[in-house]
Formats: sequence, structure tokens, C-alpha cells
Amino acid sequence: MLNVVLVTCVDKVGKANIIPIAWVMPTSFNPPKIAISVGLGRYSHKLIEETKEFVVNIPTADLLEKIKFCGSVSGKFLDKFKESGLTSQPAKKVKPPIIVECVAHLECKVSHQTTTGDHTIFVGDVVEAYTNKKIFDKILNLEKLKLVLHVGEDVFWTT
Ligand SMILES: Cc1cc2nc3c(=O)[nH]c(=O)nc-3n(C[C@H](O)[C@H](O)[C@H](O)COP(=O)(O)O)c2cc1C
Repeated sequence: MLNVVLVTCVDKVGKANIIPIAWVMPTSFNPPKIAISVGLGRYSHKLIEETKEFVVNIPTADLLEKIKFCGSVSGKFLDKFKESGLTSQPAKKVKPPIIVECVAHLECKVSHQTTTGDHTIFVGDVVEAYTNKKIFDKILNLEKLKLVLHVGEDVFWTT
């Protein structure tokens, strides 16, 4: 089961897109880095390659239908913020916006990329990271925080 995130990215004029990503992992503590694997044919692949920035937004299970919608259409043809009803807000250090409904945000600038087959791994320096404090009671509160786990095809689980 893979934890699903919603990655935001922008085109050259700043128009935002959203792509659900299950292939995501940390790759360094110091400096902090995170990697996402994006299919070569995805519109988001073109945007991240051009602008070298993305935001990893952490969604919760209540957003599942919006996640499935964003993962079933391409931002090449429509505005996923508008069509999904998700809310954008300017990020602190990068051009892609954050998704307000998500509980945590990692703003990233691409430091490395490598194409491994039909996907490219984009490694990002995490230049800002912040969260909605309501999910912490000193430690992460997994009673409140229902993460989205992808089992495969249309099957999902939660924490
Ligand atoms: C739960 C879920 C996980 C996904 N994980 C990935 C992933 O890790 N990498 C990827 O390239 N596409 C992944 N996808 C597929 C893309 O989200 C999907 O093709 C999307 O429509 C691409 O949008 P775009 O063309 O606007 O970039 C996933 C889809 C879903 C629903």
C-alpha cells in the first residue's frame, strides 16, 4: 500500500495543475529531499521539467473522490482546481500553489532528475514544510489523520 499525495505544479505563466502521486519517498534528511516518480506522458511531467518546482500536499481520506478525479483527467485539457473544487493558496517559496484542504505541504525545487523507464524521478530540495497543527497532539494523531493509501486499481485504504 502506498501513501497518496497531491502534487501541485505550474506552467510557464503560472497556471496550476494537480497530479495524485503514489510513488513518493524521502531521499535525504540533510539537506531535506523528497522524490516523486512521474510518468513521461503526464502533463505534470512537462510542467515540472519546465519550471523545476512542485509542492507535495498531504491529503486525507475525505478527499478521496477529488483525488480520483484529479487522477483520471489531464490538466492539459482542464483546470483541475476549478473542476475539483479544491482551493489554491500561494505557497511561501515556490510558484506552484498549496492545496488548502490538505493537512501538510512540502515546497520543493528540483535538484536532480533521472528517467528510469517510462517515469522520471524528480528529486526536490524541500525549501519549506508546514502543517495544520490540528493533526498534532505533541505527536501525530492518527485518530484524526486519515491518510490515503492506494492498494491498487480502484482500491484504497486508510490509517
Ligand atoms: C491514487 C493514484 C496514484 C497515482 N500515482 C501516480 C504516480 O505515482 N505517478 C504518476 O505518474 N501517475 C500517478 N497516477 C496517475 C496520474 O495521477 C494521472 O495520470 C493524472 O491524470 C495525470 O494528470 P496530468 O496529465 O494533469 O499530469 C496516480 C493516480 C491515482 C488515482
